[in-house]
Amino acid sequence: MPLTILILAAGQGKRMQSDLPKVLQPLAGRPLLKHVIDTSRALAPAAIHVVYGHGGERVRDTLAGEHVDWVLQAEQLGTGHAVMQAMPRIADDQLVLVLYGDVPLVQTGTLEALVERAGPQTLSLLTVMLEDPSGYGRIVRDTQGRVRAIVEHKDAGPTDLAIREGNTGIMAVPAGLLRRWLARLGKDNAQGEYYLTDIVAMAVEEQVEVVPLVAALATEVLGVNDKLQLAEVEAAYRLRRARELMLAGVTVCDPARLDVRGELSVGRDVFLDVNVVLEGHVVLGDRVRIGSGCVVRNTRIEADAELHPYCVIERAEIGPNCVVGPYARLRPGAKLARDVHVGNFVEVKKSELGEGSKANHLSYLGDAVIGQGVNVGAGTITCNYDGANKWQTTIGDGAFIGSGTMLVAPVRIGAGATIGAGSTIAKDAPDGQLTLERSKQLTVASWKRPTKNPKR
Ligand code: UD1
Ligand code: CA
Repeated sequence: MPLTILILAAGQGKRMQSDLPKVLQPLAGRPLLKHVIDTSRALAPAAIHVVYGHGGERVRDTLAGEHVDWVLQAEQLGTGHAVMQAMPRIADDQLVLVLYGDVPLVQTGTLEALVERAGPQTLSLLTVMLEDPSGYGRIVRDTQGRVRAIVEHKDAGPTDLAIREGNTGIMAVPAGLLRRWLARLGKDNAQGEYYLTDIVAMAVEEQVEVVPLVAALATEVLGVNDKLQLAEVEAAYRLRRARELMLAGVTVCDPARLDVRGELSVGRDVFLDVNVVLEGHVVLGDRVRIGSGCVVRNTRIEADAELHPYCVIERAEIGPNCVVGPYARLRPGAKLARDVHVGNFVEVKKSELGEGSKANHLSYLGDAVIGQGVNVGAGTITCNYDGANKWQTTIGDGAFIGSGTMLVAPVRIGAGATIGAGSTIAKDAPDGQLTLERSKQLTVASWKRPTKNPKR
């Protein structure tokens, strides 16, 4: 049967105590709903409908780039009511997979297994065994283990409350049957809502087969209702990503202290120390080592390069065998060729450093093109901004920039040039010569150091 995915995301999420709609709360830097949409996409469905309501415009604006069909549920009258809103857009021959915008960790493989179990006359349900099932709908089975109904926690009597098998809410239902059952839903229950879960008892009554699938891992179907559960889900996500990396051969010092929040591709024998955050699209070559406390975003780091602790790197390219940090900041457009060293308290923006060049201490290099084998002394600054425009600094191969140099851009330092320490260089310096700008040193022979006033 052709597959249609329906994501319920209209709930308010009161327990979040937040102005941000629940499904936009971030998990690993992406909205909860985005995780569910991405997982849905992997199933290649004919359509994805998202039922939204609370924080409506904000939800749609934030996820405007997603090719999904937005379905407004103006009033939140329950999960069954939410599904009803989308039914006019779904044909009877479809298999409808219902997902929740606040259950972000569910995996493609599990959903595929669930979909496989459903069919034109079969409904499949994803359930979960829980230590503490409070809040969950309970899966009521008969003595032969067949599912008979789902009873919501708030409607459950003592016998049902003792059941530890909970409803994840995720189910696959043929659209024709679903449409018929939805029309029969009432709201005569503890919450006065149209419960989607009531269709299970209707299926049983009509002798339509109900096939349960018990989730292998409870963490996969964790729902997020408050900030505590958000942190739990974040922790589970963190471990999942770390686990994948370790199985791919990466040495992860502490899987509970590594955050991968995007797409990461790794070579062999990569080493990640504690408290590393990798965001966006990150590529790490063979034997790359990342020290503790580094944040790396949308960056490519080539083989054998090393980041010492506490570097913040964004949209940079780091060549083979480079050494960066501790405490270095590479901003967008920083491009280091092979064997470059960028040391502590050095900031590099939109600048290239050629092979073997070094800027080891306390420098700002912005809008600069630096050749090979250049030594940038401590405290060197490219004065790239005149208050209105940014200007370029060019430094030729083999140049030596003395410490404390101000390079007032636009300016060009020739190949093999030497700049004396403490110079303010506002005019081009020729190749191969010493250029310096420095006031004359003065010694005042008669000068006396002041003494402290006696106490009055
Ligand atoms: C629901 C299930 C319960 C299950 C639990 C799992 C029903 C009646 N109950 O309960 O059996 O154990 O999920 O987490 O289905 N939503 C809408 N519109 C609405 C109401 C809800 O879009 O009118 C969305 C919410 O945004 C959320 C999802 O549906 O993503 C579930 O809603 P929620 O109110 O959290 O359901 P529960 O009471 O937790
Ligand atoms: Ca509810």
